[in-house]
Amino acid sequence: MGYHYNSNPMLGMTILFLLAFSMFIFLGVDSATLSSIATDREALISFKSQLSFELPNNPLSTWDNNSSTSPCNWTGVRCSNNSGSGERVTALDLSGLGLAGSIAPHIGNLSFLNSLQLQSNRLRGTLPNEICNLSRLKVLNLSSNSIEGSLPSNITKLKNLQILDLMENEITSRLPEELGFLSNLQVLKLGKNNFFGSIPSSLSNLSSLTNLNLGTNALSGILPNDLGRLQKLKELDITINNLTGQLQELQMLGLAKNNLSGGIPNSLGNLRRLNDIDLSGNSLLGFIPSSFGNFQNLLSLDLSNNKLNGSIPKESFNLQTLSTIFNLSNNFLSGPLPQDIQLEKVVTIDLSNNLLSGPIPSSIINCKSLERLFMAKNRLSGPIPNTISEVKGLEMLDLSSNQLSGSIPKDLEDLHALRYLNLSFNQLEGEVPEGGVFRNISSVHLEGNKKLCSNLKCKNSTNPGHRNRVIVICVVTAIIATLALCTLLFTLLHLRRRKATIKDTSETQKGQFQMVSYEELRRATGNFTESNLIGYGSFGSVYKGRLSDQTEVAVKVINTQTTGSWKSFVAECEALRNVRHRNLVRLITSCSSIDFKNMDFLALVYEYLSNGSLEDWIRGRKMKENGEALNIVDRLNVAIDVACALDYLHHDCEVPVVHCDIKPSNILLNEDFTAKIGDFGLARLLMEKKGTQTSISSTNFLKGSIGYIPPEYGQGEKPSTAGDTYSFGIMLLELFTGKCPIDKCFSGDLNLPRWVQSAFPENFMQVVDSKLLVGDVCNEERDDDDDDNLYVSPEIRVEYCLTTVIEIGLSCTRDSPDGRITIRLALQKLKNAKHNFLKNRNGKKV
Ligand SMILES: *[C@@H]1O[C@H](CO)[C@@H](O)[C@H](O)[C@H]1NC(C)=O
Ligand SMILES: *[C@@H]1O[C@H](CO)[C@@H](O)[C@H](O)[C@H]1NC(C)=O
Ligand SMILES: *[C@@H]1O[C@H](CO)[C@@H](O)[C@H](O)[C@H]1NC(C)=O
Ligand SMILES: *[C@@H]1O[C@H](CO)[C@@H](O)[C@H](O)[C@H]1NC(C)=O
Ligand SMILES: *[C@@H]1O[C@H](CO)[C@@H](O)[C@H](O)[C@H]1NC(C)=O
Ligand SMILES: *[C@@H]1O[C@H](CO)[C@@H](O)[C@H](O)[C@H]1NC(C)=O
Ligand SMILES: *[C@@H]1O[C@H](CO)[C@@H](O)[C@H](O)[C@H]1NC(C)=O
Ligand SMILES: *[C@@H]1O[C@H](CO)[C@@H](O)[C@H](O)[C@H]1NC(C)=O
Ligand SMILES: *[C@@H]1O[C@H](CO)[C@@H](O)[C@H](O)[C@H]1NC(C)=O
Ligand SMILES: *[C@@H]1O[C@H](CO)[C@@H](O)[C@H](O)[C@H]1NC(C)=O
Ligand SMILES: *[C@@H]1O[C@H](CO)[C@@H](O)[C@H](O)[C@H]1NC(C)=O
Ligand SMILES: *[C@@H]1O[C@H](CO)[C@@H](O)[C@H](O)[C@H]1NC(C)=O
Repeated sequence: MGYHYNSNPMLGMTILFLLAFSMFIFLGVDSATLSSIATDREALISFKSQLSFELPNNPLSTWDNNSSTSPCNWTGVRCSNNSGSGERVTALDLSGLGLAGSIAPHIGNLSFLNSLQLQSNRLRGTLPNEICNLSRLKVLNLSSNSIEGSLPSNITKLKNLQILDLMENEITSRLPEELGFLSNLQVLKLGKNNFFGSIPSSLSNLSSLTNLNLGTNALSGILPNDLGRLQKLKELDITINNLTGQLQELQMLGLAKNNLSGGIPNSLGNLRRLNDIDLSGNSLLGFIPSSFGNFQNLLSLDLSNNKLNGSIPKESFNLQTLSTIFNLSNNFLSGPLPQDIQLEKVVTIDLSNNLLSGPIPSSIINCKSLERLFMAKNRLSGPIPNTISEVKGLEMLDLSSNQLSGSIPKDLEDLHALRYLNLSFNQLEGEVPEGGVFRNISSVHLEGNKKLCSNLKCKNSTNPGHRNRVIVICVVTAIIATLALCTLLFTLLHLRRRKATIKDTSETQKGQFQMVSYEELRRATGNFTESNLIGYGSFGSVYKGRLSDQTEVAVKVINTQTTGSWKSFVAECEALRNVRHRNLVRLITSCSSIDFKNMDFLALVYEYLSNGSLEDWIRGRKMKENGEALNIVDRLNVAIDVACALDYLHHDCEVPVVHCDIKPSNILLNEDFTAKIGDFGLARLLMEKKGTQTSISSTNFLKGSIGYIPPEYGQGEKPSTAGDTYSFGIMLLELFTGKCPIDKCFSGDLNLPRWVQSAFPENFMQVVDSKLLVGDVCNEERDDDDDDNLYVSPEIRVEYCLTTVIEIGLSCTRDSPDGRITIRLALQKLKNAKHNFLKNRNGKKV
């Protein structure tokens, strides 16, 4: 045994050496292991030797082969230690140094390089093939240079590549099919070069790709069918500039919601055979090309939700084949509509939410198949063309939020299919027709047209008692004398018949927007007397009133002197028009008119809720007949009601609504203590803001009430559903602790949630509302037949329930919006809490 150790140590070492050497020979052919930092130094110097500098100071002056500094210390060079090879150059960042010249093939000797960034220089020449030797390369950014020639075909050997950015060069090349084998690619930007040929179908295998830009090249051919498999793709720019060949056979161009950017290429119009174009929900900029008139087989065109601007080319209104949808909504399209519309077969036209101006062309009559016409939220002016009444199949017509004037064409009554008509927020005037769709209050929206009147009021305005209105009417009459005269004659002729029908339709009168007059509200509220004042909303005073048909109402008179009052009025009308829920105060009608002082008068008329606001109950200003406060179940019910309404607003509305002002004084209770959210004066539809027309700027606006505002609003965050959740949480904590969030004891960093948190969980019974710890629940007596296992003492039950509720309140009021639970979860938890509370009570009686 010892023999081996002692006899020939040299032999052992020699064998070892030979072994190592042979491994070196056979396995170490990789130049990387043979090379050293000296190789890198050599490569860098050679690389530098082909560069020139236009700047007075040589940006690579530290790259000096004569000095003894390590190249790791040179400008733009980064090294890392590599086991076996010591320090090696791993990253080279020379971006934006004004380097000119070409890239030396020696770059391929930097074997450990994983990031090469030479972007924004003036490099010319071709990409050396040797660059494909950099097998460790992950990042290659050569964008914004003048590199020409072709792409080395071995580039597809760079298997580790994650970012390949060659944007804005002059590379003239096909895209190798093997590009799709670079399975780690996340960013592939080859745009603004001269790439030609087809887009390799293998690209759809690049499952990590988030950003694909092939735009502004000379690519042609078919778009890979299954680009849709690129699930992670966030940006796709394939603004193709020469669609040729087979692409002309393309029938369906569906690239919706792809975050495409750039313009729509005019050449798209060469794809004459396209049946369907859906480019909606991208970020397309610029004009709609007039070549769109070329389509010979187009059935549907959807360019909605982009950033297109300019006017709509008149050619696109001549697409005779278009037979389903023509949707250009939610863009920035402007200018007048062309006078000649020839969309005979189209069923839906949606131009809403643009900046279109001028009149609605009367040639709309040519759209004989039209069923839905949406032009809301533009700047359209002039009258509603009478010809629209000839589009007999019209089912939905939305012209709201424009600047349309004149009267409502009486013939709209004859559109028997019409089941939704929205003309709100225009400058329409005169008499509202009564027949047809107008009979159905819930189908017609006319609010925000100051000068519209029911025939009753129109008639009264000629009454000598209303001088001012007479003057207005006279001016109008002078302008449209003949028309007015005819109307007057008509009115007089039919006076009797109408008088008779008015009584029958009193229900209609009550429900219909715009039908309630200043005069009626004045009477209903006893001339807005102090004793009927029941509260202040964010933009005015609320009066109790009784309409002539004895309905009890709450009338919110908006203070028109306050800036933003009109916006608030619109916000509330918009919000409440779009929502309906048993836990939301119902808006019965609204009134925008002129009061007796000839001032603007805006009022909203709601259902009256007899038990007042939750604030009154929390503060003890209101009590039950037996002198008791709201008990634990009442409070749970209130919390659930409010959460339910918010859940609906946040999650179930077509457009999510943020209330922005949840607090006890805005929660109203009806006779059986059902809670309803009121005061939508700050409410916001969470729509993408487009242009400036009807959207409410979130900066110059109050965002809620002190104590209930989430902290992020103070930092300029936009209103969000998480903000409502915070306010709700505060309200919940207040409801169960009885402590007002703006109590004097809260100052500095201490607020209601922190105060509750500090006592939670050990001492939390000290912070809950003491009224909850006495009363019916605790007084219940134990039943002797009880199964002991099921029995839970009332104290434990209350404590358990309150703990749960306080926990919910705390998770709604986290400082960070992301840390908060959703209102939906809060609702679920509250329901569970109530269920457990009641279940145990029942359990006791088993
Ligand atoms: C750089 O210097 C080394 C010696 O320090 C020398 O061997 C090498 O040839 C030089 N390279 C160039 C390009 O001058
Ligand atoms: C390096 O030294 C050589 C001669 O030793 C000289 O010709 C050359 O200019 C030097 N280069 C630099 C960058 O100083
Ligand atoms: C660069 O080299 C100098 C000496 O030549 C040395 O003092 C300095 O620490 C080096 N810097 C880095 C970042 O290695
Ligand atoms: C790299 O390793 C060498 C020795 O292995 C050491 O002297 C040097 O400090 C290390 N450099 C870095 C940057 O870790
Ligand atoms: C570096 O690359 C050049 C050109 O590709 C090659 O001729 C040279 O042999 C390489 N040098 C080393 C040390 O690998
Ligand atoms: C480096 O690239 C050249 C040219 O592409 C090639 O001939 C050579 O084999 C490559 N060297 C290594 C070590 O891969
Ligand atoms: C490449 O460099 C350019 C210019 O600095 C930069 O805009 C671009 O984002 C970089 N590419 C990637 C993928 O990071
Ligand atoms: C591409 O790589 C292969 C080996 O992997 C080599 O034989 C070939 O010469 C390379 N082509 C170019 C153009 O460098
Ligand atoms: C995508 O990858 C699969 C499996 O690697 C391969 O079979 C298929 O041919 C690739 N598709 C394309 C279009 O390259
Ligand atoms: C869409 O692209 C823009 C930049 O063009 C980017 O800011 C935005 O985040 C992208 N959207 C998505 C959903 O990825
Ligand atoms: C577009 O493609 C056609 C047919 O392939 C070709 O004749 C024409 O030169 C191309 N135009 C451009 C700008 O590349
Ligand atoms: C209109 O006038 C009649 C009497 O002239 C009156 O009974 C009716 O209440 C008035 N209507 C409105 C809305 O003012």
